[in-house]
Amino acid sequence: MAESILRLEGVRRELELSRDVRQTIIPNLSLDIFEGEFVAITGPSGSGKSTLLYIMGGLDKPTFGKVWLDGQEITGLDEAEMTIIRNQKIGFIYQFHFLLPEFSAVDNVMMPMLIRRKYGKKEIRERAMQLLDMVGLDNKYTNKPSQLSGGQQQRVAIARALANEPTVLLGDEPTGNLDSRSANNVYELFARLNRELNQTVIVVTHDEEFANRAGRRIHLVDGKIESDSQNGKAASA
Ligand SMILES: Nc1ncnc2c1ncn2[C@@H]1O[C@H](COP(=O)(O)OP(=O)(O)OP(=O)(O)O)[C@@H](O)[C@H]1O
Ligand SMILES: [Mg+2]
Repeated sequence: MAESILRLEGVRRELELSRDVRQTIIPNLSLDIFEGEFVAITGPSGSGKSTLLYIMGGLDKPTFGKVWLDGQEITGLDEAEMTIIRNQKIGFIYQFHFLLPEFSAVDNVMMPMLIRRKYGKKEIRERAMQLLDMVGLDNKYTNKPSQLSGGQQQRVAIARALANEPTVLLGDEPTGNLDSRSANNVYELFARLNRELNQTVIVVTHDEEFANRAGRRIHLVDGKIESDSQNGKAASA
């Protein structure tokens, strides 16, 4: 059995809408994701998919419950510690790419590595170019985001998310903003990263076809796991 790379135990997320009005988004959720899994998270709008993904990626904290990433409990960490974990272990891709508009593709991909300072600048630039090659943008190093198509921008965002070799790659509807052909290319890229690099990938998607192609599909309704199925075989939630 592969190692549990991400573990959620009794996670509850409440929102305080006003002093005495609280909304429960996720009542009580426990879940293990294993190394090398390719997981699609689906569910209706407002079911808590983004909230769950943000908790998995340490961008949000549960009201109760615990989260372990790579064997380390991250729920107790302060913001400074969490920033380091996010830089080193989590690659996050948003629906909108959030690339830095005034920087070139290669500069955007270099950024997380410059923050981490594991390599010198020359090596960082080389690694960034290799990552852009891998996502099929070998001739777009110096283009700024505005000089790239939506699908190309999203591939730069994926290259950037991969920069520090994250333990988990998380995507929140990363193709929600793309036409179907570009979306398909991005999906193929996730599948290839998973297959060839054993990259653990967790993606929120509305795309039925993509969700069915992933190795595991978790369906959320009202912040609860309604089904959790593997290779087409449903397991009870
Ligand atoms: N900042 C906020 N203030 C108030 N309510 C919020 C806030 N963020 C999320 N919610 C509520 O939390 C619930 C879950 O939101 P979440 O964004 O996780 O859903 P989702 O499944 O990602 O939806 P979508 O498919 O539309 O992106 C929703 O009912 C939403 O209204
Ligand atoms: Mg969402």
